[in-house]
Amino acid sequence: MSEELKNTAIEELKTITSLPELAQLKARYLGKKGLITLQVKSLGTLSAEDRPPAGKRINELKDAIEAACSAREDELTRKDLAKRLASESIDITLPGRTAGIGREHPINTVLSEIIDIFVRMGFSVEEGPEVELDRYNFEALNIPKDHPARDMQDTFYVSDDVVLRTHTSPVQVRVMEQKKPPLRFIAPGKVYRCDADVSHTPMFHQVEGLMVDEGITFSNLKGVLETFVHQMFGPQVPVRFRPSFFPFTEPSAEVDIGCILCGGAGCRVCKGSGFLEVLGAGMVNPKVLGFCGIDTERYTGFAFGMGVERITMLKYRVDDIRLFFENDLRFLRQF
Ligand code: DAH
Repeated sequence: MSEELKNTAIEELKTITSLPELAQLKARYLGKKGLITLQVKSLGTLSAEDRPPAGKRINELKDAIEAACSAREDELTRKDLAKRLASESIDITLPGRTAGIGREHPINTVLSEIIDIFVRMGFSVEEGPEVELDRYNFEALNIPKDHPARDMQDTFYVSDDVVLRTHTSPVQVRVMEQKKPPLRFIAPGKVYRCDADVSHTPMFHQVEGLMVDEGITFSNLKGVLETFVHQMFGPQVPVRFRPSFFPFTEPSAEVDIGCILCGGAGCRVCKGSGFLEVLGAGMVNPKVLGFCGIDTERYTGFAFGMGVERITMLKYRVDDIRLFFENDLRFLRQF
């Protein structure tokens, strides 16, 4: 009977597949009301003589079942662990998920290119404030009070005499007040105008240039700007100076380059002219030099100003300036 009980228990153990099932089986044999426990209790009914051998046998039986149970428990625990390890394992040969890497904005790329070209020609780089005094943004640049550029329509006024600079030209004045000729610098930065359409955004970038020394002539201006255009757009691109007007230069010119879309043949972008305007320039008006305390008998200078977005649009054939500031990654990833 006891031997049989042990064999049944061992057979049953083999069919068990989980630890909870094992616990149930243990309870059934070895628990308070378990089959073995009942046999121990029944020892009381035996004679004093029969009791010790019967007790010994039951104990052996109990030990055997307990040993079999813990062996099975070890086995099931190991299987469970192996299963968990397999399901939670990480394939370390898979490529990792890296953080998205950003890239330079096309405007900054072109801005750096512009700066590099002028630095190679011996220009240093200066900066000025974006919130500017009316005095520097207009007055010192010979832009009179009634000039249309001062209109509330175009200028963001912070107060009566403080504006968001509408161009980088005030940096000319700030530097000339501080440093004396010879001067040769560019001033890149953000400028602001109350304007928005396919070719205007309320904020955009300009690069100002100024060179002041004894004997500076329009030829120097032409040489510097032609060199710039040829380095920026290629040596085959023609450069044209067209008479124009700016209050802070005299004479003034607008600089055109051969249309890089049609090669000068005439197209929709250059409106059939074969040329595209890229910057404004001129000989610094003596009034501006005088305002900064520079001897206009001794010194002359040239200045120029260009829009970075305009250059970038031409270089990369982008036809809507707003694309630069919408931050659509599908656009920005193309550069
Ligand atoms: N400040 C002018 C503008 O924003 C651009 C410009 C034209 C700058 C001629 C100059 C210059 O220095 O000489 O439209």
